[in-house]
Amino acid sequence: MVARRGHDLILVARNKERLAALAQRLGRDTGRAVATVAADLTNAGDLQRVEHTLRTNADISLLVNNAGFGAAGSLLASEVNKMEEMIRLNVTALMRLTRTAQGLDRANSGWQSRRLRSKSAGRSPPPAGSAGGNSR
Ligand SMILES: NC(=O)c1ccc[n+]([C@@H]2O[C@H](COP(=O)([O-])OP(=O)(O)OC[C@H]3O[C@@H](n4cnc5c(N)ncnc54)[C@H](OP(=O)(O)O)[C@@H]3O)[C@@H](O)[C@H]2O)c1
Repeated sequence: MVARRGHDLILVARNKERLAALAQRLGRDTGRAVATVAADLTNAGDLQRVEHTLRTNADISLLVNNAGFGAAGSLLASEVNKMEEMIRLNVTALMRLTRTAQGLDRANSGWQSRRLRSKSAGRSPPPAGSAGGNSR
């Protein structure tokens, strides 16, 4: 949708092969330039690399945060390391990238930041007391 509206893209995700295939398809279908950055946003070094890209690429004017996941179980029933990973992705990465984007002093100052959620998000509440729902 963003590419169809005339924007070039930088796609960020962990899986290089899926990223490359998606970039090829989007580039072919829309005629836009589509670059990729393989990064795990729960990894501090990878996250800093993506922040650096945001800071130094003056053409970037829109940040879409889509990466995230939830856990349906209660906090006590959830695996603590998985919950910590979820917080790094749903909260820490989202906060750091949004903060970096909003702190940029760009000539085009029409900065936008969006958090994308799935089709069901916002319409169906997360299970009561679920750890994942609370992080979102
Ligand atoms: N599906 C639902 O029912 C539901 C409900 C409410 C809210 N949401 C929210 O909506 C958003 C999208 O959900 P979805 O179901 O479409 O998710 P999805 O199919 O799992 O897609 C998530 C995308 O983020 C990337 N990603 C995941 N973990 C990452 C990481 N650590 N670092 C970098 N990239 C990562 C994935 O690619 P790689 O695997 O290659 O990294 C994938 O491209 C999420 O924020 C989710 O919490 C979903």
